[in-house]
Amino acid sequence: MTGGSCCGRRITIAIDGPAGAGKSTVARLVARRLGYRYLDTGAMFRAVAWYAIATGCGVAGLTDRQLENLEIGLDYAADGTMSVTVDGRDVTGEIRSSQVTAIVSEVARQPAVRRYLLERQRIMAAGGGIVMDGRDIGSVVLPAAELKIFLTASVTERAARRAREMAVAGRATDMETLLAEITKRDSEDMSRAQAPLVALPTAWYLDTTGCPLEQVVDMVVARAEEVIRSVVQAV
Ligand code: CDP
Repeated sequence: MTGGSCCGRRITIAIDGPAGAGKSTVARLVARRLGYRYLDTGAMFRAVAWYAIATGCGVAGLTDRQLENLEIGLDYAADGTMSVTVDGRDVTGEIRSSQVTAIVSEVARQPAVRRYLLERQRIMAAGGGIVMDGRDIGSVVLPAAELKIFLTASVTERAARRAREMAVAGRATDMETLLAEITKRDSEDMSRAQAPLVALPTAWYLDTTGCPLEQVVDMVVARAEEVIRSVVQAV
């Protein structure tokens, strides 16, 4: 058994950072090593953006009333991969489309959308033993998280990682378009009034430029185990 569960104290880990920093991959692998759950909150915002396009309600139509009946489902396979449904329809692949990516930051600025998702994210995090990634997890969703991480990398490296991901998924793209898309989305996410992306002074700032994924995961797991030990000793 790993250090994450051996002590009987299951902490909450918040991973925030800009687009393409590898947050979801790191969060999923760290969660698996610790025997924790993981939640990719970006996928939830993407699901709402998909819904705005599919229903034709558009971003302006995402009101409290419209969202009341929306059901977003997150299912996990044994290997930790997540599938996403909107009102029962599997949209796991579609939420990564360029159409969804193009509007997701605007969708995420809508107060009704943030209200809708915040409530659900907090319910899902109840009880601890979770790694949650997004933009405002440490600052707004789970401010009491025992471990907060700001995960980043240079914009060129983030675009290159995203290009590799897209190639694996069979999606056509080019570096210039990706660089422009990531830069625009980061600036929108950092400058919005509600729950902007910020590097909190209380977060561990982890720049992963040039750092292999396995090493990042090892570092985060080691830090989590340290925090778990210190939390247990403090009780
Ligand atoms: O995976 P990628 O870095 O492309 O982004 P994502 O995690 O899928 O998030 C998509 C978008 O959702 C972000 O650009 C934000 O605008 C929004 N988001 C947010 O506002 N708050 C979160 N906690 C997570 C995502």
